Amino acid sequence: MDRPIAYDKLAREDRFVRMRAREVAELKVAQGLPPFPDLSSPESIKERVHGIMVGELQAMEGAGRTVCDFPDAPWEFTMDMARQVWDESRHVEIYLRLLEHLNGYAGEFPETTILWRCACAEDAAARVAGVNRGLEGLACDVFNQLVHIARKIGDPILERAVDFVLADEITHVRMGSKWLTKLTEGDAERRRRAIEFQENIDERFNLGGVRRDGDHDAVSISIATDVRRMAGFTEEEIERLIKTTQRSQVY
Ligand SMILES: [Fe+2]
Ligand SMILES: [Fe+2]
Repeated sequence: MDRPIAYDKLAREDRFVRMRAREVAELKVAQGLPPFPDLSSPESIKERVHGIMVGELQAMEGAGRTVCDFPDAPWEFTMDMARQVWDESRHVEIYLRLLEHLNGYAGEFPETTILWRCACAEDAAARVAGVNRGLEGLACDVFNQLVHIARKIGDPILERAVDFVLADEITHVRMGSKWLTKLTEGDAERRRRAIEFQENIDERFNLGGVRRDGDHDAVSISIATDVRRMAGFTEEEIERLIKTTQRSQVY
């Protein structure tokens, strides 16, 4: 089996449409739409939830690949990753139901594979840093914001369901921090490379200024500083993330 598996080899039912993220953004801009769905309308909330659903699918596959790709890793590491597959599979089910709740369906919007392609590090330490701290940190931002928006528009089903998933993502971040430390014990260079990999992912998902520190209603993706603290990110890390989002602003 290839290691890591190519993004276009992920098995999908026919109803899923796969496209490059850049292509989707360009087509949207050509139609006068924002490149990334904000949360200002029921349609944009549904599109965001669809994007999360395919993200959960790739998170499930990614954690499964981590079990498979690192057979020499400590047993507890493999167990944590296997537990994460289980969590992510429940998240997929929850988001599939939420899509129905929002009158949507799987395949209504294209699936981009940017999350998967970002997750394909060759080193286990880099992978948990990038996926469990970079991408799951992003999930904390996105879910925390969605909980607030759902509360504001009076949708307790969306609010509660996303809050329950968020609780799991916090544990995934913590797991990433634990294994980043354990796997790189006594190897400062390996740790430096893993953190660099994570920072590249963070920078990429600032999406040129789309993710920012700000009010949930005012920015497309708001940084969940409190939830990130709960997930074990240090004040210094949160500060650094906010600074990089300011640097990568496009306007
Ligand atoms: Fe998840
Ligand atoms: Fe997760």
